[in-house]
Amino acid sequence: MSIWSAYGLAANPFFQEELRSDPAAAYPIALHVGRDAEMRLALRQLGGGTSSRMIVEGAPGIGKTSFVNKLKAEATQSGMLTHADPVRIVADSTVLSFVADVLRVLLRIRTAHGLDGDAFWTRTARLVEGEDTMAGGFTLGPIGVSYQGGRVPAEAPLGTLYEVIAEGVDRVTKDLGAHVLVHVNNLENLGDDDAKRAARLLRDLRDFMMVAGAHWIFVGASGVDYAVFREYDQVAGIFPHPIVLEPLSETEVAELLRRRYEHLAREGTQLVPPVEPSVAADLYGLYRGDLRNFLRLLSDAAALALGVEAIEPLSAERIVAVAAPRYARAIERRVGALDYQHLSRIVSGSRGGEFNVASAGQHVGIGQSGTSRLIARLREAGLIVQVRTEAKKVFYRPAGQVLVALGLAAGTIVP
Ligand SMILES: Nc1ncnc2c1ncn2[C@@H]1O[C@H](COP(=O)(O)OP(=O)(O)O)[C@@H](O)[C@H]1O
Ligand SMILES: [Mg+2]
Repeated sequence: MSIWSAYGLAANPFFQEELRSDPAAAYPIALHVGRDAEMRLALRQLGGGTSSRMIVEGAPGIGKTSFVNKLKAEATQSGMLTHADPVRIVADSTVLSFVADVLRVLLRIRTAHGLDGDAFWTRTARLVEGEDTMAGGFTLGPIGVSYQGGRVPAEAPLGTLYEVIAEGVDRVTKDLGAHVLVHVNNLENLGDDDAKRAARLLRDLRDFMMVAGAHWIFVGASGVDYAVFREYDQVAGIFPHPIVLEPLSETEVAELLRRRYEHLAREGTQLVPPVEPSVAADLYGLYRGDLRNFLRLLSDAAALALGVEAIEPLSAERIVAVAAPRYARAIERRVGALDYQHLSRIVSGSRGGEFNVASAGQHVGIGQSGTSRLIARLREAGLIVQVRTEAKKVFYRPAGQVLVALGLAAGTIVP
């Protein structure tokens, strides 16, 4: 018998998976709370014309993918065609790999609606499945574009690829009588070079974004709009301002947990909340919007402490106390003992609040360039988060898991 059933639950309510559009999914979109204004705005942008483009941006774990999955569910309700798994843009994506991914989406939409293939789709399937291999490369059917292993050759005929996408979208929208919504994810964790590469890719794809019958949603980290979509005027001109997701409020987080408990409640058993929603909402303050790591904390603490003494809710103090030593060890392993020591000096020196290179340098007693490098390493490791820039000074704060590692419970932190 799992510990969850002792609490009257069918499964772990602190799962970190994104909410999915499919109503039958284990983690359905019905669990989504808040963000109504953003949703209305997004739906309005989608409904506007024969094609559209949208950017959704926000910090890691804030709820971007879940938001877009909900948007997709609503768009499907109003008759649009869409797909579950997003097309990904990664550091080495090319026009060709992007086109192949989009064609795969179109094929899946067709198949899901039980349509048979014709010559065009047979060729397309061959292109994206790589069946038609010749000497390690693929051939784009009779159109005669050949390429190696998904990489665009220098002479890649953009026009031809454009025509394939335009024809694919046109056929799907005509056959099924509805527009297509394409979800492009993971413009996240882009370094400066990656952002430049993604910006160039978007520039090359610009005309693709205008194909009638297609609606594009790009999801990325905070700042992706500026770093990728505003780099070239011809791209900036066709993308509206991003929809920026702000952290859920504490009230909304309490509601998030209430819904999860209700969704997972086992009939006929008494529900004991493993963590009271109001207690969880307090702890969420440490994470400032990062739902994924916040839920991971609850999940980790539950695994360590739930039901050990009695079947009763965990207190905030207990959650922090059981998680702290493990988190501290994990962080130390990740960045090494010295960086961890410096990090804890910075955090206690700034009492869990904001700091910049100058104040951090004072707390650890090292020079500016050393502090800058330290901060870059800590950022890279996800242990500190950039919060704002003022008069060319960049301010950071510790990630929630760092505050937990250092045993700083909610309430002891400088806002
Ligand atoms: N609005 C919301 N309401 C309820 N739960 C949410 C909401 N947004 C996100 N979540 C939950 O938070 C976690 C992180 O969400 P996710 O969409 O994966 O974030 P992101 O894509 O920004 O990294 C997931 O467990 C998800 O189920
Ligand atoms: Mg995501």
